[in-house]
Amino acid sequence: MGTVRSKRILIVDDEPEHCLYISQALTAAGYQPSVTNDGPKAITLSREQKFDLYLLDIRMQPMDGLAVLQEIRNQQPEAKAIILSAFGDVDTAVKCMKLGAYDFLSKPINMDELLITVGNALKSLELQQEIKTLRDQIEIQQSPDQLLGESASMQELLHTIEQIAQHNLTVLIRGESGTGKELTARALHALSQRAEEPFVSVDCATLPETLVESELFGYERGAFTGAVAQKPGRFEQAGKGTLFLDEIGNLPTTVQVKLLRVLQERCLRRLGGKVEIPFHATLVSATNVDLEKSIKEGKFREDLYYRLNEFMLRIPPLRERRGDIPLLVKHFLDLFNRQFHKKVLGVSPEVISLFTSYAWPGNVRELKNIMKRGVVLADEWIEKTHLSEGPLAQAAPAETAGLESIPLEAIEGFALKDIVKQETVRVERQIILQTLEATRWNRSLTAKRLEIDYKTLYNKMKEYQIG
Ligand SMILES: Nc1ncnc2c1ncn2[C@@H]1O[C@H](COP(=O)(O)OP(=O)(O)OP(=O)(O)O)[C@@H](O)[C@H]1O
Ligand SMILES: [Mg+2]
Repeated sequence: MGTVRSKRILIVDDEPEHCLYISQALTAAGYQPSVTNDGPKAITLSREQKFDLYLLDIRMQPMDGLAVLQEIRNQQPEAKAIILSAFGDVDTAVKCMKLGAYDFLSKPINMDELLITVGNALKSLELQQEIKTLRDQIEIQQSPDQLLGESASMQELLHTIEQIAQHNLTVLIRGESGTGKELTARALHALSQRAEEPFVSVDCATLPETLVESELFGYERGAFTGAVAQKPGRFEQAGKGTLFLDEIGNLPTTVQVKLLRVLQERCLRRLGGKVEIPFHATLVSATNVDLEKSIKEGKFREDLYYRLNEFMLRIPPLRERRGDIPLLVKHFLDLFNRQFHKKVLGVSPEVISLFTSYAWPGNVRELKNIMKRGVVLADEWIEKTHLSEGPLAQAAPAETAGLESIPLEAIEGFALKDIVKQETVRVERQIILQTLEATRWNRSLTAKRLEIDYKTLYNKMKEYQIG
């Protein structure tokens, strides 16, 4: 009841004495009601103060209670209203109920009845608010982030995910930290026929080496000191679903051998176990390290690499798909506004300009964290002052970012157009080369990504002596 007392009540009645009478009774009961004697004023007040409960007289001049109720419900559909009707106003009172009034009381008002009705209306309001809060929380918890992206490269990735999800392929996901590898693995699972089966995620980077084996394969009782009971491993827990091995590059070589065997023979043994247990799940793994380099250095088995890599998905870093930034900003703004019950409107132009020029080493996760902090700290707009002390806050705004200054002596004697041409060639060559590398020298994919036709790509490669 404590919080009910703090709710705001407006009494609207054109008879001052009647208002006073009700107001005194409510005050005596611990409420702090406000009072007004005419309808239009009530509407103005309601706009300014958004009362929780309105006590409305029906017969009022110049605007009757029904019209006032209509207006208030338009503005504040969640607010409660109790109608005070005189004998003979029953039809209007019924109309008010149809408009969503909580209850009506007949004059002369019985004060006990009034207090009970007011208490009930406020309790019901409180319950509604609680339900809304819980719903919002459930919604946030139950809808793990969707993989979003509208840039050409993300659209292509989303399309590929849809295509391969159907086929139970062993997929290796590559990408820098925070680009959305785990989210991609979840999307692959959700779109597959295994969607109703378990999704089991194991982070190979945080598991101590001594525990990896028992965690993945499980153990029988007595397999090692401390194994007092048997325990199924993650492979078994994944059932017919998806086993997601994150940071696969960190898997100790001894475990790599065992994993290879599971993938070849589709069965495994618990530590200390004799029985072969079939492995039905689909394996999806992810890494942000250069596995090819690890292979060369003898840290990762080449045969395992080929097993894991039936299909490779590469998630581009955020700085290579800046077109996704506005969509992600909007998404995280909505998410955190709901989570923290805020109404932050957006990101200031200065911050947008920083966002578009920043290199995003932590990729989408970094953007997400910055938006979280921004929403918590900002009132209306996320400004530069709301950004953390990190590199972003120190980044230069878009106008100058990315443009190194050109030493004047280097360009002396050259016409502007020649300098620009030379720079264009340098930048084009670099971009083409990087895209070719990212697509493993797939020329048609490179042309598609860069939105040029194949022949143009071919000519430019010849001109710039690439390949
Ligand atoms: N495209 C996206 N749309 C919406 N949210 C995203 C997207 N990409 C990443 N996120 C969010 O950013 C965070 C990081 O994503 P995720 O954990 O999938 O990255 P990761 O590549 O696995 O990172 P790490 O290499 O550090 O493990 C998560 O909270 C995720 O929900
Ligand atoms: Mg991850």
